[in-house]
Amino acid sequence: MPVPVKRKIVEVLEGKTVAPPPLWLMRQAGRYLPEYRATRQQAGGFLDLCYTPDLAVEVTLQPIRRYSFDAAILFSDILVIPDALDRKVRFAPGEGPQMDPIDETGIYSLKADGTLQHLSPVLETVKRLRQELPAETALLGFCGAPWTVATYMIAGHGTPDQAPARLFGYRNRKALEHLLMFLAEISADYLVAQIDAGADAVQIFDSWAGVLGEAEFEAFAVKPVARMIEIVRGKRPNAKIIAFAKGAGMNLRHYRQKTGADAIGLDWSVPLSFAAELQKDGPVQGNLDPMRVVAGGQSLDDGIDAILQVLGNGPLIFNLGHGITPEADPDNVARLVKRVRGIA
Ligand code: CP3
Repeated sequence: MPVPVKRKIVEVLEGKTVAPPPLWLMRQAGRYLPEYRATRQQAGGFLDLCYTPDLAVEVTLQPIRRYSFDAAILFSDILVIPDALDRKVRFAPGEGPQMDPIDETGIYSLKADGTLQHLSPVLETVKRLRQELPAETALLGFCGAPWTVATYMIAGHGTPDQAPARLFGYRNRKALEHLLMFLAEISADYLVAQIDAGADAVQIFDSWAGVLGEAEFEAFAVKPVARMIEIVRGKRPNAKIIAFAKGAGMNLRHYRQKTGADAIGLDWSVPLSFAAELQKDGPVQGNLDPMRVVAGGQSLDDGIDAILQVLGNGPLIFNLGHGITPEADPDNVARLVKRVRGIA
């Protein structure tokens, strides 16, 4: 019988303080790594990479081999959900994601049938990863929060402030709420399937939570994520869940309380003094500015030290405040890992 291992990130998600804190980086598999760029080229399209378990496993493992992060995050994308819903998602080189913009009629005709079937290669990737990862490395699954996924479905592409989705919310409130609850349900089932396939914990990315006004944050960010977590916990009571609502600022305390997430992700604009307050209620994850990893040197060291000093004595998962960017130097990432672990 294999000895059951308690992975450090899971310990933190249970509320324990682990020193030094376990770490992983959002978007840790990606274009800043030459080996990623090579595999990406071999795959052809970005979605082909997501749906080919051999390649998706390989790119998930690349940053683990280099840096021995405490967690691997499944290589996929939040937009595989609209892709599974037949919204014709495309990743044109240099242009970001595109899909057919959805309208009211489209929203009411969405069908959940076959979604998990479409995503079966991703679930296969999760299974294989759990077999291939070192025993001490946690495996994280993920999906987008309904609001963030909806912003791309409504605009049909990325925008700087999600004006099309916000406008849609004022003009077609009922349809947006229907879309968000629909996405909440299929995304919850998708997370349950990832947990069953071997994910130790899952992260819900609400990258566009910060563009919402007070009332809309409640209705479009809090409520659907609370519903998702309720469904996941109804089916898997011990599920460990991190919720990352970028730009949520002052709302973060009640975001954790109302959604029931185990840990909340913090972007780099969250002041460390407020982060320390949030940590009294439970684990936090974050929140180094990804530009410090591009800058390197003293800026990198200072940013890391400040986080460790203020949050290092409580339940912390060290991470960036958003995804690592293609410009980041892999040597700076090595420096970050050493410094967080206290060996440089
Ligand atoms: O973290 C990881 O390493 C796991 C893989 C992962 C990707 N996307 C791979 C990816 C994860 C967790 C995501 C999440 C994601 N995808 C989010 C939420 C987090 C965030 O960064 O805000 C969002 C909003 C998306 C949607 C998306 N996917 C956009 C806007 C883009 C284009 C912009 C960009 O950064 O390139 C993508 C493409 C994408 N997803 C890439 C990768 C590695 C780059 C594609 C390529 O290699 O050409």
